[in-house]
Amino acid sequence: MERIILTGDRPTGKLHLGHYVGSLQNRLKLQEEDNTKVFVMIADQQALTDNADNPEKVQQSLIEVALDYLAVGLDPKKTTIFIQSQIPQLPELTLYYLNLVTVARLQRNPTVKSEIQEKGFNESIPAGFFMYPVSQAADITAFKATHVPVGEDQKPMVEQTREVARDFNRTYKQDVLVEPDIILPPQGQGRLVGIDGKGKMSKSLNNGIYLSDSAEVIQKKVMSMYTDPNHIRVEDPGQVEGNVVFTYLDVFDDDKEKVQELKDQYRAGGLGDVKIKRYLNDVLQAKLQPIRERREAFAEDKDAVMEILREGSQKAEAVAAQTLDEVKDAMGINYFK
Ligand code: TRP
Repeated sequence: MERIILTGDRPTGKLHLGHYVGSLQNRLKLQEEDNTKVFVMIADQQALTDNADNPEKVQQSLIEVALDYLAVGLDPKKTTIFIQSQIPQLPELTLYYLNLVTVARLQRNPTVKSEIQEKGFNESIPAGFFMYPVSQAADITAFKATHVPVGEDQKPMVEQTREVARDFNRTYKQDVLVEPDIILPPQGQGRLVGIDGKGKMSKSLNNGIYLSDSAEVIQKKVMSMYTDPNHIRVEDPGQVEGNVVFTYLDVFDDDKEKVQELKDQYRAGGLGDVKIKRYLNDVLQAKLQPIRERREAFAEDKDAVMEILREGSQKAEAVAAQTLDEVKDAMGINYFK
C-alpha cells in the first residue's frame, strides 16, 4: 500500500540540532522509501495563531525554515514542500471540522493546555490558537496522510485528527477521510537536550545549536556546554550520564567505539573537559559544515527557493482540492456540481 506522509513546522525561527535529530533525519529517510509520498508543510498560519501582531517574524522565519530544509537535503523532486497559507482548502476544511469538535474537547488537548500555560494567555486565549488542533487535522486529512512523523508533543494532535476523521466518516456515512498513524522519532532522539543540560533544546530556552550557526559560534557553544559540575580537575573521575558532551557524542558520533573509549577514560579520571569538547566540536563541525555550505548556496538565490515553495504549494493545492471536493460531496453541499 502507498504511504502518504504529512508533517511540518511552525516558522517561528531557524531550525536547530533538536529538529535535526527529532524530525529532519526521519524525513530524509522517508523521502528515499518506495511507495511513499512525502509532504512537508511550513505551517505559517499556525505560527500566526500566537503571532498575529508579528507577521514579519513568521515571514522571515518561513524562508529560514525553507533554507534549513533544503540544506539538510530535503529534495523538492522527492518531497513536496509547501506553505500552509497558500492552500485555501485547508481553512475551508477546518471550518467544517469545527462543527464536529466540542470546546470541551479542545480544552482537554494536553498540548494546547500546556502551551496556554507557557504563553501566559490566561483568560485571553486567541480563538484561532485555541482551535489550531482542528486546523492541524485539516492539514493532515487534506492529503489523506497515512502517517504523520512528529515529536512526542504532537501526539495529542494526531489523536485528535484521528477522532475528526472518524467522526466525519461516521456522520456523513462515507469513508472519505483517513485516520493517520503517528511515526515517532527513533528511541532516545525525540528530545535532544540543550547545551545547558537543563531541558529540551528550544529557542525559548536559548540553549540551541542552529543548522545555520557559523563554525565560530558552534565552537563557542560547544566550549560552554554543561558537563559534570563535580569534574573539577582533569584527574578526577567524571560522570558521563547527564553530561551533555557525551549525550551529543552518542547522538552525532558514528564512531561508537571511540565514544566508548572516551567514556571509560572520563569515568576513570584523567580526561579533561576541554579535550572532550574539542573532540565533540570536530564531530559537529564535520556534520554541520556541508549543511551550512549548502544553506549559504541556496540563500544566494532566494527567488529560486520561493519558486520551489510555489511549485510545491501548487502541487499540494491540487491534492487538497480533490479531498475538499469529496468532503463537500459527502456533506451534500456541492450545490453547483
Ligand atoms: N504543530 C506543529 C508544530 O508545532 C506544526 C504542524 C502544523 C504540523 N500542522 C501540522 C505538524 C501537520 C504535522 C502535521 O511544529
